[in-house]
Amino acid sequence: EKGGYDTFMAKEIDEQPKAVADTLLARSDEQGRLVLDEMRIDEAALADVDKVVIVSCGTSSYAGMVAKYAIERWARIPVEIEYSHEFRYRDPVIGARTLVVSISQSGETMDTLMAVRHARELGATTVAVCNTHGSTIPRESDGVLYTHAGPEVAVASTKAFVAQITAIYLLGLYLAQLRGTLAAADIKGVLAELHAVPDKVQKVLDGSGHVRQIARWMADTRSVLFLGRHVGFPVALEGALKLKELAYIHAEGFAAGELKHGPIALIEPGQPVFVVVPSPEGDDSVHAKVISNIQEIRARGARTIVIAEEGDDAVVPYAEEIIRVPQTPPLLAPLVTVVPLQVFACELAGAKGLDVDQPRNLAKSVTVE
Ligand code: F6R
Repeated sequence: EKGGYDTFMAKEIDEQPKAVADTLLARSDEQGRLVLDEMRIDEAALADVDKVVIVSCGTSSYAGMVAKYAIERWARIPVEIEYSHEFRYRDPVIGARTLVVSISQSGETMDTLMAVRHARELGATTVAVCNTHGSTIPRESDGVLYTHAGPEVAVASTKAFVAQITAIYLLGLYLAQLRGTLAAADIKGVLAELHAVPDKVQKVLDGSGHVRQIARWMADTRSVLFLGRHVGFPVALEGALKLKELAYIHAEGFAAGELKHGPIALIEPGQPVFVVVPSPEGDDSVHAKVISNIQEIRARGARTIVIAEEGDDAVVPYAEEIIRVPQTPPLLAPLVTVVPLQVFACELAGAKGLDVDQPRNLAKSVTVE
């Protein structure tokens, strides 16, 4: 059933263009308006929401971080993001106008289920973003937005993650449509850009030979750092988590802006650092600031492995290795920039002879609190 692949994870990484495309399928009507059928929530109630709280764990929580950027930008609703296991225990301020969105691949994560139950007790409306039909979390939620990544077998999440991010963009656009915060033409424009993403992901996969080579060179590395800013920050966190889980290498992700507030002390000659560079198309100063971060760590001897868009030449002087990704609108970039980091972790773990699909100490769904 691995279809010619050595591992399920390698197969699932390659299925990502389809996971994104399938999650986007049949989401609009003849007029081009978004229709999220499974939502089952009254549109007037959704339009009236005054706060969104996203609860999730692990990789799904990084999809939640991306969601905060997108929903706040498009729908102009404040978004809080929280680990499911922290949510319940801090007496959260939740009411009838709060929309609590859970994100869970399995739909069985106990921490997230308990957070959803708690939110309902407090009177919130709950929506589940979930990859598993008929699982517990969507059954216990008011509405559901299914991701269509197909069954994910490898313990480490890959294709479910890109499908979650895709679904959350749909949710953000839908809320913007209901609230009138984006013009219909702008929503159509973003949707068109989203539909272009699967081909871009395919391009990254087709060009992944370079990152595989870097992974094999680095098989003895003991520590790797990941930097990102804006939506690149959750991507950096995900890159670090994948490496910990699969290759048992100490890895940390940082917001690039935090570097000078402490983590830069970790930089010594030879320290590998992945940097997720934001699109130069976005906020100029964000791009320039990340370039200056690369410069700073390079000056201290870091091995800089830079993920940057095609045509972004500003990175060239300070990058030891450059991994190119196709140009993508800044908010949608995580769908392409995360892919080389997944490939890196998978390849490095394979090079170390580890069990990529079943890393030690981990279970596919965590059904205890
Ligand atoms: C990481 C990973 C875990 C899960 C987390 C949440 O590769 O797989 O961090 O993302 O346990 O699981 P779900 O999404 O099923 O709630």
